[in-house]
Amino acid sequence: MTREPLLVLDNITKKYGAIEALKGISFAIGKGEVVALLGDNGAGKSTLVKIIAGGLEPTSGRMLFEGREFLARTPSEAKAAGIETVYQDLSLATNVDVVANFFMGRELTRRVFGVPVLDEKAMEAVVAAALASAGTRIPSLRTRVEHLSGGQRQAIELNRFVHWGGKLVLLDEPFAALGVEQTRRGLDMIKHVASQGIGVVIITHIMQQAFQVADRIVVIRQGVVAGDVDSSQTSPDAVVRMITGETLAGAGPAG
Ligand SMILES: Nc1ncnc2c1ncn2[C@@H]1O[C@H](COP(=O)(O)OP(=O)(O)O)[C@@H](O)[C@H]1O
Ligand SMILES: [Mg+2]
Repeated sequence: MTREPLLVLDNITKKYGAIEALKGISFAIGKGEVVALLGDNGAGKSTLVKIIAGGLEPTSGRMLFEGREFLARTPSEAKAAGIETVYQDLSLATNVDVVANFFMGRELTRRVFGVPVLDEKAMEAVVAAALASAGTRIPSLRTRVEHLSGGQRQAIELNRFVHWGGKLVLLDEPFAALGVEQTRRGLDMIKHVASQGIGVVIITHIMQQAFQVADRIVVIRQGVVAGDVDSSQTSPDAVVRMITGETLAGAGPAG
């Protein structure tokens, strides 16, 4: 399937002092596409994702976002453009409830005798609708986030991202701390997010997850793209060979 490109990476390099972590990375992420980023420890995956999300400056190279040259200098600049990293836990306020987290900084208000007050009912309805459309079940939207599981927190973050017009979400090992059932829900959630036209980049070291959720698999090896393949056109064995360097891109399904 040909997709409209959302983000194009053009020859991105990154040096940490003498270490060349990225040696010229080029690939594209389409609208509504899930790209799994695979590679051995130290391959450069996290570095790349940080650069995309404005958390790290590349040494050279450029990015095109929705057809325009764009390089976020800070995470908030990336976020304003619709690019966000979802870290389990880190971006939610645990001491307030689900609704408050959803609307953090964007609260709905109504006027009582001319004075703006929070419109809790309206906000709760918005959150309920958003979660329902994604198939996310949270027992009570008035539960403080500290009482929710890791999987529920992740689902809230992703729902919030979708609701506020997010365009590209980056996930670095999102299920590392989750159990089997929560991981399954998380994978479903990713598919739901992509079905809204959002681009998804997921770093995972679990091959099965990559094949379950990704449209494309991009393998990074020692700072270069060692494979960029349709997940339906390759196999776990072939991807392992790309990761370890036994073969380069273009290997078909293993016999
Ligand atoms: N802050 C840093 N300072 C120096 N070297 C770093 C830093 N972060 C990562 N590296 C190095 O860059 C390379 C790529 O790391 P990283 O992007 O974390 O890989 P991955 O996420 O694929 O495991 C590794 O050699 C790592 O040691
Ligand atoms: Mg990493």
